[in-house]
Amino acid sequence: MRIIARLCLGSLLLCAVLWLCWIKVNTKEKADEQPRTLPQILTLPGYSRLPDGQPLSRNPCKSCAVVSSSGQMLGSGLGPQIDQAECVLRMNTAPTLGYEADVGSRSSLRVVSHTSVPLLLRNQTYFFQQSQDTVYVIWGPLRQMDIDSGITYRVLQHTKGMYPQVQIYTLTQSMMAHCDLVFQNETGKNRAMSGTFLSTGWFTMILAMELCEEITVYGMVGENYCRNRFNPPVPYHYYEKGRLDECTMYMMHERASRGAHRFITEKAVFARWAHRKQIHFAHPSWGA
Ligand SMILES: *[C@@H]1O[C@H](CO)[C@@H](O)[C@H](O)[C@H]1NC(C)=O
Ligand SMILES: *[C@@H]1O[C@H](CO)[C@@H](O)[C@H](O)[C@H]1NC(C)=O
Repeated sequence: MRIIARLCLGSLLLCAVLWLCWIKVNTKEKADEQPRTLPQILTLPGYSRLPDGQPLSRNPCKSCAVVSSSGQMLGSGLGPQIDQAECVLRMNTAPTLGYEADVGSRSSLRVVSHTSVPLLLRNQTYFFQQSQDTVYVIWGPLRQMDIDSGITYRVLQHTKGMYPQVQIYTLTQSMMAHCDLVFQNETGKNRAMSGTFLSTGWFTMILAMELCEEITVYGMVGENYCRNRFNPPVPYHYYEKGRLDECTMYMMHERASRGAHRFITEKAVFARWAHRKQIHFAHPSWGA
């Protein structure tokens, strides 16, 4: 202040400029002092932590990238964009190593089917040691996931014992029932009676809707995509080349009377959710 005052004697203009700067810095400091609203903590009781059963509790993700395992991702070059999202959600054991350019390299959460747990175990070094920042969210039916007698639950408990730093959650059975109800509500069909198995994508989208403020879904085709026979075939999974083409797989499942996934129906539902919530579909990009 004393320096400013002395300069003021010399030059009125300089004085005015310095004075303004001083006021500006001061107001900025004041603004910084104001208490910020604390980030709101989300508590999601549908997801239960191993081994203590605590609900999933964390800050909401401002932006989420939901990366599908679809062959659509091959050659997308979207890896860097995906990695910019605050939270990156992947499904099952979809690898990033060797595919970084197309699918990114970060994995904040993995939603894993009970049927894929043995595949996680096959590569424990990678999933439970090298990727220990990843939160694993496992879904499955009661007979697999029961806390007392479920085989998958027991395997996960053992895994948690061996790698205490790994964060594992399971969907509670009431959350599983809720996911069935969401299907019934959206399609008018009972999930079990219509011979339907929900896909890992279904559980991932429901989690993302709870966790994320804004969602970009990568590599998920729209409901009508497979009707266009001129679309080039892509592998069902980007990491399993030479297997069945994605649309062939989707159509086969959609038509099967029982024991099938309804990938196309699910996508029609996701499109409707995009009216309610900020969901964007990228690569192929399509609107709700
Ligand atoms: C484990 O995963 C890593 C990364 O995807 C891969 O490079 C490695 O070959 C896998 N190891 C086994 C035994 O599957
Ligand atoms: C059922 O569907 C309606 C309309 O789409 C929606 O507003 C409501 O939240 C849904 N309820 C459940 C439990 O999914």
